[in-house]
Amino acid sequence: MQIKNRKQLLLINATFVVFCAGILVFLLKAPKESTPFLPNDENHKRFFFIESKKEAELSCLSCHDLGKEAPLPENHPPKYRCLFCHKRNR
Ligand code: HEC
Ligand code: HEC
Repeated sequence: MQIKNRKQLLLINATFVVFCAGILVFLLKAPKESTPFLPNDENHKRFFFIESKKEAELSCLSCHDLGKEAPLPENHPPKYRCLFCHKRNR
């Protein structure tokens, strides 16, 4: 696009500023983090000491699989890497 004069340039810059402000407002209005953290209780304490997430996750499903003591709800999101979503530190 050929920019013809100062007025047009000003308009383009103003549009850009309004656009950026819009994105900023959108991001600031994001809801706060709501995924439950890994509980720090008897069942989960030992996982805080296993540094590798991948290794720690190996035993999650021994309790959280279907038919075990704390199965995941049906609407639970895809569950491949538990600790990417359920963080250990807050
Ligand atoms: C020994 C059994 C057991 C193991 C192993 C286990 N959990 Fe749990 N988990 C439970 C039980 C029982 C509950 C429900 C009661 C509670 O909150 O402790 C629970 C609750 C949770 C919750 C819900 C907390 C909340 O605030 O609602 C999350 C998240 C969770 N576990 C993640 C994990 C992850 C990730 C692993 C693997 C690193 C794991 N659990 C391993 C038994 C276990
Ligand atoms: C993609 C992100 C993600 C991954 C990966 C994930 N979860 Fe979750 N999990 C969530 C979210 C979000 C919720 C809250 C769902 C809700 O409140 O409806 C949740 C809820 C839970 C709960 C609590 C259920 C309840 O009844 O309150 C447990 C237990 C749990 N997850 C365990 C696990 C385990 C074990 C794994 C790995 C096998 C895992 N999650 C992987 C996002 C994830």
